[in-house]
Amino acid sequence: MDQIEGKVAVITGAARGIGFAIAARLARAGMKVVLGDIHASALDGALKNLQGQGFDAHAVQTDVADFGSVNRLADAAYGRHGAVHVLHLNAGVAAMNSLFDDEVASWRRVIDINLMGVIWGIKAFAKRMIDGGENGVILATSSGAGAEGTSYNTTACSATKMAIVSVVECLHGQLRDRKAKIRVGLVFPPLTDTQLSGGTTAKQVEGLLNSRGVPAALVQPEQVAELILDGLRRDRFFIRTGPAENASYFNSAMSSEFFAWSERVIRGRAEAQMNDSGPDAYLW
Ligand SMILES: NC(=O)c1ccc[n+]([C@@H]2O[C@H](COP(=O)([O-])OP(=O)(O)OC[C@H]3O[C@@H](n4cnc5c(N)ncnc54)[C@H](O)[C@@H]3O)[C@@H](O)[C@H]2O)c1
Repeated sequence: MDQIEGKVAVITGAARGIGFAIAARLARAGMKVVLGDIHASALDGALKNLQGQGFDAHAVQTDVADFGSVNRLADAAYGRHGAVHVLHLNAGVAAMNSLFDDEVASWRRVIDINLMGVIWGIKAFAKRMIDGGENGVILATSSGAGAEGTSYNTTACSATKMAIVSVVECLHGQLRDRKAKIRVGLVFPPLTDTQLSGGTTAKQVEGLLNSRGVPAALVQPEQVAELILDGLRRDRFFIRTGPAENASYFNSAMSSEFFAWSERVIRGRAEAQMNDSGPDAYLW
């Protein structure tokens, strides 16, 4: 979708981090942006920031875990602009969970926000976008956990990020069957310097991953926004970082070891299924 100027984008989880960075980047590219986020004061700050730069921005406090709330976001976007061309279902949370205790709240929270948030977003917007008859794109933010799928210490998060891949693949097939003018894409951000991990800084997460043999490198949300915009313009389904994107958008922050590791995990997983062997060869 290369013609985005003057079109309308809705982004969830847009008050900060990657969501704010892509909202700002799309606004700078000439889009009208509608920001949805649960965090009222951060959302207000994000809105003032964008409006202060002269952009056409609007904000709706939204809890993506609540279907009614996501429908109200859609009503507000359509009420204001009459159309939505880019929907980026980006809101997400992270949590450490144990499979060996009775704690249930963090599991429900992560699944409700990360997975159901994407499903509710599709249900609230997709039909209206199809009926609008214009070209459009629905993006959902997955994670390295959805590609390599091996972060087994954050099980709920990993499970939701893999499930998002499945949901978006299904959506792709259903849109294709309907001959709809709506495309879909999956965003796989690299390790990004945001507040996703709460009290643990992204720098600390980078150190932890490196100490476990994962050669991850920390990047900035504004760089991820460039990757996403490029993916949007080039109609990529898997918006992820290969060596070319690493050079173009991340100042080659990721080493050749990182790409070798990622390839080993992704191919190792497929081969383990074909060879009927277990996950030890690729699980880190
Ligand atoms: N930061 C990373 O390294 C990284 C890596 C891979 C994937 N991701 C994914 O990128 C997305 C954005 O994360 P981020 O890193 O910018 O984190 P962040 O915490 O900075 O931003 C997430 C935003 O989502 C909002 N949010 C949380 N719960 C919500 C809810 N119920 N309804 C609406 N909004 C809600 C938060 O208020 C926040 O503004 C997430 O889906 C995350 O899983 C991040």
